Amino acid sequence: MQMNLKISRSASEIQPSATLAIAALARDLKTKGQPVLSFSAGEPDFASPESAIAAARDAMDRGETRYTANSGIPELKKAIAAYYKTRFGLDYAPSEIIVSGGAKQALYQAVQVLADAEDEVLIPSPAWVSYVEQVHLAGAKEVMVDTSDAGFIPARESLEGALSKKTVGIMINSPNNPTGAVYGRETLGMIADLARRNGLWIIYDEIYERLVYGEAAHYNILQIAPDIRDRVIIVNGVSKAYSMTGWRIGYALGPKEAVAKMDDIQSHISSNPSSIAQWASVGAMEGSGSYVEDNRRAFERRRDLLMDLLSDAEGLKLERPAGAFYAFIDVRGSSVPDDKEFCRRILEEKFVALVPGDAFFAPGYVRMSYACSEADIREGAARIKEFLRR
Ligand SMILES: Cc1ncc(COP(=O)(O)O)c(C=O)c1O
Repeated sequence: MQMNLKISRSASEIQPSATLAIAALARDLKTKGQPVLSFSAGEPDFASPESAIAAARDAMDRGETRYTANSGIPELKKAIAAYYKTRFGLDYAPSEIIVSGGAKQALYQAVQVLADAEDEVLIPSPAWVSYVEQVHLAGAKEVMVDTSDAGFIPARESLEGALSKKTVGIMINSPNNPTGAVYGRETLGMIADLARRNGLWIIYDEIYERLVYGEAAHYNILQIAPDIRDRVIIVNGVSKAYSMTGWRIGYALGPKEAVAKMDDIQSHISSNPSSIAQWASVGAMEGSGSYVEDNRRAFERRRDLLMDLLSDAEGLKLERPAGAFYAFIDVRGSSVPDDKEFCRRILEEKFVALVPGDAFFAPGYVRMSYACSEADIREGAARIKEFLRR
């Protein structure tokens, strides 16, 4: 007997993650024995810090295997608060911090708390695809603000031009996935001013904040505009800085009322994130020594290597990314100007996995992650150049 299962409208409208789709295709080719080089992943290739693994082991041995406080163990909140105090000079109480199953869940809950159906949310683009889906899941509407003509940094006029009576907030991400752009003091000050004047909230996703290179510097928006503290939700996590993507620990800091509501939502969808992973995160944040800085230097070397190797690639245009671990490459001047076609063909013909810019609302570009070995970067760049010459 055939059942006619009704799928909800919001579920029907969700688009699967294009990044994961490419990664799956690449894995498939790899299992068939093809020499696939994957530059599609959004995760560091390093092992998690030894201090994280030891802390997880200890936690299991101690029997820390039960539900924890819904919003996270006090020890991890303490580590997060201490980190924000030392790194940015910001004071957050435990009631203003929530630990979630990855920064992704923290972002989801923040959007659920801040956006009503029909509200509009500004998102500078190119943008990480989940922002848009999360806004949709709240019934709200995204308003994309293109930054591609401005070095991927949002301009005041473009943001102001996108405002309407329905605008309630803005989601920003610096260092940026997919562009690698890092917003400077002036840009952050301008966004803060826009929020202040128009009564907007800001979700500030700084998950890549430890990964900035050369002259670039990362600022928390509240270092620039401390007066807007009550309208900012900061999102961060251990995934990218500590190569802990599989542990699924992210967190948010914000005004108590908003965090309490995020806590309520979390209590109905997942409860606390894994107890063991929370202890591992304490181990990472408190005991990993020079781990983050060593890896940051490795990423910087890889970035420089990739830029050197691709500098004479026919028809490609790319800015030197200032942060994160992605190069966002303009392929419109190449022999395959369509990004989806570019990614499909280079995977099939040269076994190089890249992500089409279309997945980040930026057709004509491709994203190449350099979170991989220098040998892979050399070989990948050679194959890209060969592909372009044909
Ligand atoms: C911009 C951005 N925000 C948030 C996340 C989510 O990170 P997590 O693994 O902590 O959920 C990612 C992961 O790719 C990301 O690129």
